Amino acid sequence: MSDVTITPRKNGPYRVEGPIKLVDPEGNAFTVNEPVIFLCRCGHSGNKPFCDGTHKTIGFQADTKAPTTAATE
Ligand code: FES
Repeated sequence: MSDVTITPRKNGPYRVEGPIKLVDPEGNAFTVNEPVIFLCRCGHSGNKPFCDGTHKTIGFQADTKAPTTAATE
């Protein structure tokens, strides 16, 4: 079981909770001092990879749901 939980928020960012290490493409670590961070999912943040709230002003729409399995016999 993972200690990290990633939750796509409705019409918003990825909420990431748990002990994480976030690095750039060269492997340099971002300073993450919070137990929960929000990563941009809309692609319009001015502070990528973090969400800066821009998704609200651009009307970003995404309601990601995990697939559920129907009970079958
Ligand atoms: S998801 Fe918030 S700015 Fe992109």
